Amino acid sequence: MAQILIFLGPPGAGKGTQARVVARELGIPHISTGDILREAARKKTSLGLAAKAKMDKGELVPDEVISPIVEERLSRPDCKEGAILDGFPRTIAQAKFLGAMLERAGLGEPLVVNIEVTCDAVVKRLTGRRTCPVCGEIYNVYFNPPRRDAICDRDGNRVIQRADDNEDAIRIRLQAYEHDTLPLIDYYQRKNALLQVDGNGEPEAITERLLSLVKTHDYL
Ligand code: AP5
Repeated sequence: MAQILIFLGPPGAGKGTQARVVARELGIPHISTGDILREAARKKTSLGLAAKAKMDKGELVPDEVISPIVEERLSRPDCKEGAILDGFPRTIAQAKFLGAMLERAGLGEPLVVNIEVTCDAVVKRLTGRRTCPVCGEIYNVYFNPPRRDAICDRDGNRVIQRADDNEDAIRIRLQAYEHDTLPLIDYYQRKNALLQVDGNGEPEAITERLLSLVKTHDYL
């Protein structure tokens, strides 16, 4: 396992949109804890059903549930050249767990990129989001709709709206972000591991900013 790249930012910052493209570009896996939990929920595993109850309300799942899942995923051979973490860590306890895990593996601190966006942009992005339940492609009815109405461009499946992209759950997710995840900015800043990227503007321009930033910092 090589150095880990973390995409940090509020719900709707564009972490998933960017991580998919940047991971492809860098040839490393994109690991989204939200996607892992949603997949478990679709398969109706005990983890998935317990997580779904929390996720649909906009609450975080417990640290002791999500951290071992990430540990197992990062131990797989496809992560030996690195990986992008999207949605993890999102509490100080998760960041400490990850740090200890990387230290045991003889690796340094992860490189953390905080994607900054305005609050207004986030709400519009989340309410307009549609996702392909099969390939995970992300769309937006306002900014990036599928070419055919509600049909995924990639595989022709019907796109869906996430259960937590409603006003009540968005409010709770933003509160959870402010309370539990925002302190990570300071945490990683103190470790000199934090980079900032402007997440406003066209997705392609943001991808360019991200790629140039991680290359400047000798990632890969
Ligand atoms: P998760 O799936 O991680 O959701 P999130 O953090 O709320 O982030 P989002 O997926 O909503 O936003 P994003 O930044 O990826 O934005 P996206 O690229 O999709 O987590 C869901 C739940 O799982 C949590 O609430 C929790 O319950 C649980 N969970 C997951 N990880 C956990 C953990 N570590 N600990 C505990 N619980 C955990 O973009 C959003 C929209 O904007 C899209 O429509 C997109 O097309 C559009 N868009 C993107 N970029 C642009 C742009 N530049 N301009 C215009 N539109 C854009």
